[in-house]
Parts: sequence; structure tokens; C-alpha cells
Amino acid sequence: MKVALVTGVSSGIGRATAVRLAQDGYRTFGTVREAVAPHENIELVRVDVRDRDSVEEAVASVFETAGRIDVLVNSAGVAMVSAAEETTPEEARDLFDTNFFGVMRMTQAVLPAMRAQRSGRIINISSVLGFLPAPFMSVYAATKHAVEGYSESLDHEVRNFGVRVIVVEPGFTRTNLSRHNGNGHPVSEYNMDRERAAASIEEHIKHGADPAAVADVVARAATARTPALHYQVGANARLLRVLRSIAPAGLVDRGVRKTFGVAS
Ligand SMILES: NC(=O)c1ccc[n+]([C@@H]2O[C@H](COP(=O)([O-])OP(=O)(O)OC[C@H]3O[C@@H](n4cnc5c(N)ncnc54)[C@H](OP(=O)(O)O)[C@@H]3O)[C@@H](O)[C@H]2O)c1
Repeated sequence: MKVALVTGVSSGIGRATAVRLAQDGYRTFGTVREAVAPHENIELVRVDVRDRDSVEEAVASVFETAGRIDVLVNSAGVAMVSAAEETTPEEARDLFDTNFFGVMRMTQAVLPAMRAQRSGRIINISSVLGFLPAPFMSVYAATKHAVEGYSESLDHEVRNFGVRVIVVEPGFTRTNLSRHNGNGHPVSEYNMDRERAAASIEEHIKHGADPAAVADVVARAATARTPALHYQVGANARLLRVLRSIAPAGLVDRGVRKTFGVAS
């Protein structure tokens, strides 16, 4: 039986992905920070991805119980809405600690065994903001761009061991994604645009895709004989990827400003 480990299964994309992989026949482990209602098909392990000891202990316990990990899905993540100028380096570092270093810690914990078994898939939940900008989400976008650069580079290093690294790029998805205010240095001149951007993000998430759509894509990436490096979720995200590569920059620029409510 194949074994999957998914981070951040208390809600949202992580939860939907763990449920889907369990339905597909994986023995599925899911990480949580706090106790949550158990799910009969998901074995829960405690992990705070910011804490290396908790990551290493949890991964070791999964190996001990199941003997292997075939698929790691890094979904745990947080967002932040603030003007770049307002965000302190400490706030930015906190966000990177979860969204980027969390991915790195989990990856480093599973790689020795995946290399030894000469197979494995590491699937990182990035975002369309892994290849697009977003006003008032600069640090979040930076964490996701970092995940993309890391994942693609790592994939070249581990492919000869039978391990593949894949990024999944959802657009807005209907989840609890927490959006801290990162306004350690508030600058009132940004108030109007920041509030408009925050309201627009709220609205887009509320009407976003079902997290099950992301789970479908992860399930496909986990089993594809020759996986792609990137999978977008939904027609919109796929179109954005294409536009970002080939459309005139002005078109994407106008679309981003409109989406985030900062078009003048
Ligand atoms: N929603 C969207 O529109 C969207 C779009 C593109 C990409 N994404 C990405 O999708 C991923 C999942 O987010 P979501 O939208 O499903 O939000 P969500 O419902 O809030 O799920 C996030 C999960 O991450 C966990 N988490 C947060 N910090 C953690 C930490 N330090 N250690 C361990 N677990 C932690 C949360 O656990 P707790 O319950 O303990 O907080 C929760 O289970 C994130 O990487 C996000 O960036 C989301």
C-alpha cells in the first residue's frame, strides 16, 4: 500500500487532499498543530512546520508505523495582507518560516528515505502567486516564488534517484486561509488601497474554487507516469500561466490591478 503524508490537514486544501488520497487507496497521514476531529481514514500526527524537531519526530514516526513515504504533500501555509513598505522584516521572516522553510524542513526530513527507496513524489502547494505579483501580498507572493525556485531546482537534483518534485498552483480557493495583517509599520497613505485589496481578496476566496479541485490535481500529479513540473488548478489559473509567459506584460498588469482593487 502506498503511503502519503500531507501537511496542514485541519482544513482547506490539506484536508481535501488527505481525504482524496485516502479514497484513492493511500495509507494517509496528515499533520495538525492542535487536536482536530479525527477522520477515520487519516492518521493524524502533530507537526508545527516551523519547528524542526516536531517535523523530524513526526516523519520518523510515520516511517516507523508505515515503513515508507511515497508522497509528501506540503500544504501547510499562511498568508499576509499588508503593503510591502508596512511589513517589518520580522513579519516577513515569520511568513517565510511557515511557507518556505516549512516546505524545506519537511522535504529534508523525507528525502533520505525516498532516495533509499529510489522513488517518491514531493508535491508543494504553491499558488498562482508563485508566478504572478499581487499588491498587498508581496511577501506571500515572495514565499510562493521561493517555493517554485526551490522545487524546480531540487527536482533536478533528486530525479536521478527516482524522486520527483512538483508544484501545484491553485488560484483563489474557498478555505480558511488565515490572512494576518503584517502592518508592523502602518502607513496611512496605503489605507484605502490596502482595505480595497483586502476586501477583494476576501471576496475572491469566498467565491473561490472548491478545495477538492486542488485535491484532484494533486492526486493526478502523484500518479502521473511522467509528471509535469507545474500543475495549475482550473481554467483560470492555466490561462494566467499562459498569459504570464506569452501575453504582452500590460495585459497581465491591468488584470492584476483590477483583481486586487487598486486600478485607478
Ligand atoms: N485559499 C487559497 O485561495 C489558496 C490559493 C493558492 C494557494 N493556497 C495555499 O494552499 C495551502 C493551504 O491553505 P488553505 O487555503 O487550505 O488554508 P487553510 O484552510 O487555512 O489551511 C492551512 C493549513 O495549514 C496549517 N498550518 C498553518 N501554519 C502551520 C504551521 N506552522 N505548521 C503546521 N501547519 C500549519 C493550518 O493548521 P492550523 O489549523 O493549525 O492553523 C491549516 O491546516 C497554503 O500553502 C496556501 O498558501 C491557498
